Amino acid sequence: MKRLFIAILSVFALATTSQSQYVVDTTLLLSKNDMQWWRDAKFGLFIHYGLYAIPGRGEWVMWNERIDTAEYSHLRDKFTCEKFDAKQWVDIAKQAGCKYMVLTARHHDGFCLFDTKFGSYDARHSAAKRDLVAEYVEAAHNAGMRTGIYYSPLDWRYPGFFFPDLYRSNAEEMKKQTYTQVRELLANYGKIDILWYDGGEDNWLGFGGLMWNGSWYTRGFDKPYTGKFSWEPIKLNRMVRELQPKIVISQRSGWMGDFDSQEMAFKGKLKNNPDRPYELCTLLGGDAWGWTPKSATQIMNLDTCIQLLVKVVCQDGNLILNVGPRPDGSIEPAEVQRLKEIGNFLSKYGESFYSTRGGMYDDSWGGTTMSNNVIYVHVLKVPAYRVVNLPPVSQKVSSARYLRDNKKVTFDQSNTGVLLTGIADKQNEPDLIIRLTLK
Ligand code: GLC
Repeated sequence: MKRLFIAILSVFALATTSQSQYVVDTTLLLSKNDMQWWRDAKFGLFIHYGLYAIPGRGEWVMWNERIDTAEYSHLRDKFTCEKFDAKQWVDIAKQAGCKYMVLTARHHDGFCLFDTKFGSYDARHSAAKRDLVAEYVEAAHNAGMRTGIYYSPLDWRYPGFFFPDLYRSNAEEMKKQTYTQVRELLANYGKIDILWYDGGEDNWLGFGGLMWNGSWYTRGFDKPYTGKFSWEPIKLNRMVRELQPKIVISQRSGWMGDFDSQEMAFKGKLKNNPDRPYELCTLLGGDAWGWTPKSATQIMNLDTCIQLLVKVVCQDGNLILNVGPRPDGSIEPAEVQRLKEIGNFLSKYGESFYSTRGGMYDDSWGGTTMSNNVIYVHVLKVPAYRVVNLPPVSQKVSSARYLRDNKKVTFDQSNTGVLLTGIADKQNEPDLIIRLTLK
């Protein structure tokens, strides 16, 4: 009876997205003011780098191929990082128009790019003999780039992750590792702007939990873990707030976090909470977050990158694009080239993205962003009859001009909407932007 009551109780305190379950506790949330820079930033660069770059079969290679942890750990002897240049990474992000970066300080394989005192499975004790997080944070700080760190509480080396009750003391050891290392990351490198958790939700324990009732079955990611172990995400993030009060915290620690994370598939604003900040994370290139040979060949084309950014920003979200550097630490030239192209576009049209809020979006032609007394109309597809029909605007539209050449656009404003007519051709522009000035 008591267990049933606990199970019912836990459901009320939990909220669920596809594979993430988290505790809703608004007392730890950043204020709107403290979230403003992140909402104004719109666009970030995600970097997945670690031992997994060496086999080049994605960041899940250890699990996917059930590689023995000891055998896998020998990869560090080959982890020379000879072309790892944090300043170059930060320059690439800046040239792309990214306002923040997030680097995988530790992924699910447990290997740390930073110098940890919790064991020595880290880059300092690898062929590289370097603290890559220290170099990254320093380079980002020197360039005025907002600095984010990805951390995975999940660690495949711990049987306690798979059977947190049977191997409870081992699971507690894994938890102690997380608290220790999160404290190291937030106490030893100066200001950190974003903490991007992954795999820290209780329902992820045991990957949806292998269970036994005379035969094996899985609990399923959608069902809460109800055993005795817990990451205690409120306690963890209280510690985080003590160390870095203004840090923006993602969702996957089991606490709701300051923003929702959408992965690969874009879902837009949260139906039940449209003002909740969210971020879409997806791959710029390759077929995994970590480097694979396809990182050099399979790259999102420029139009698609820009149109995705427009779709996300018009719906009030952020976009973070991922690259997986090569084993030597260099980023694929073709990905660098694409990022440069995005940067060229944003250097011309950034005003219609940064520090705006989303307006409306229509899959048939595009959408709008707004800031102060300006509405930006993003035409991704020139609509039939070259007409865009916008919803009513309370203020008076005083002018409508293309951002690219300042040429006039004919418009008619009434209380049923604003009609833009004679929309020009895009002429190879991924996004034809019209600036409406309001009085
Ligand atoms: C997924 C992947 C993980 C990656 C993360 C980034 O959860 O499994 O490897 O780090 O997405 O969003």
